[in-house]
Amino acid sequence: MSTRIRSIADLAIEGRRVFLRVDLNVPLEAGRVQDDSRIRAVLPTLKHAAERGARLLLASHAGRPKGRRVPELSLEPIGQRLAELSGFEVLLTDDCLSEATGKIVADLREGQLALLENLRFEAGEEADDEGFARELAKLADVYVNDAFGAAHRAHASVSALPRLFNERGVGLLMQSELDALERLRSDAPRPYVAVLGGAKVSDKIGVLEALLERVDALLIGGAMANTFLAAQGLPMGRSLLEPDRLPLARSLIQRASERDVKLLLPSDLVVAANPDASEGLIVRTHEVPDDAMALDIGPLSVEAFRQQILPAKAVFWNGPMGLFEKKPFASGSLGVARAGADCPGFTVVGGGDSVAAVNQAGLAERYDHVSTGGGASLEFLEGKVLPGLQAVST
Ligand code: 3PG
Repeated sequence: MSTRIRSIADLAIEGRRVFLRVDLNVPLEAGRVQDDSRIRAVLPTLKHAAERGARLLLASHAGRPKGRRVPELSLEPIGQRLAELSGFEVLLTDDCLSEATGKIVADLREGQLALLENLRFEAGEEADDEGFARELAKLADVYVNDAFGAAHRAHASVSALPRLFNERGVGLLMQSELDALERLRSDAPRPYVAVLGGAKVSDKIGVLEALLERVDALLIGGAMANTFLAAQGLPMGRSLLEPDRLPLARSLIQRASERDVKLLLPSDLVVAANPDASEGLIVRTHEVPDDAMALDIGPLSVEAFRQQILPAKAVFWNGPMGLFEKKPFASGSLGVARAGADCPGFTVVGGGDSVAAVNQAGLAERYDHVSTGGGASLEFLEGKVLPGLQAVST
């Protein structure tokens, strides 16, 4: 089977209805978009398609409504922000499949685009339901996937749907994601340093194992580091950790040393009684008090990580170094964000909180690639076949 993936630039979209799957799953609070990076990231594809006279039907999921209509997860605020950023009139449909929706799509005029209401309001979406996909397919002539963030999900709009189109391919965002991540996966310049954070080792086993085969140094922060520190016998107080993963952490440490991969854990931490504390205390990793929990990496660790990151020729960072959304515990993630920005090598950051840290520090421009995919970028680097890419191949 050939695995050629066509770009939108090579598809016949002129005057045709294009189903454009995007990932506009952005953080919402009280009906407002908190971070619009994923919306901005699809603008080049919209512009490209509009300039070529395509009639665009955008579709995305938001949150996890599990096949039910959850008003707080309506795409309405996202559509509004998309209209502000793109200059298009965005017609948000009430649902995915009703007659009224079909009519909106059929009547699309130049300068307008339709945005389907949250795909996950329909049970068929997450079930990768063929029938649901067939109904969606009636709305368009061409299929384009620009939703890298959702490419690891075998859901109808990503998996069953594209197979129903002869004319199918990927958008400009997807293309740039694949170019950057493929370079890391198969041809990363050395030294290659990966920084992984976030809560759980168990979420990242596959990528940890894959990275150990490729990187020169692996820097681990976030609550995930607690499990590694505990695996070395350090008392971690009330810190979040995964006791059932201690043997795995030990075996990863062992494997790193066999492969000559420098595995760096924090040497100091910011601890507090609980995540709502208004300030933290900096302690060495062997000094975590019994009644405290680690909520960020400390300044010595940030400096040690920075010393590894600066001379690297390639850097991949996924996952926050601490409870980044709380100010007293944000320094570790911001410090790593700065180190990545200051590194002259090829730098890629992915994952909601790490990208938020880079944005918050105003440093996104100084990264070679800011990925819109969290789980998707990890699965890609792990070497997995992503359903969204497989389905769009011709
Ligand atoms: C993401 O935010 O990682 C993607 O939009 C996928 O969302 P999901 O994890 O709810 O499938």
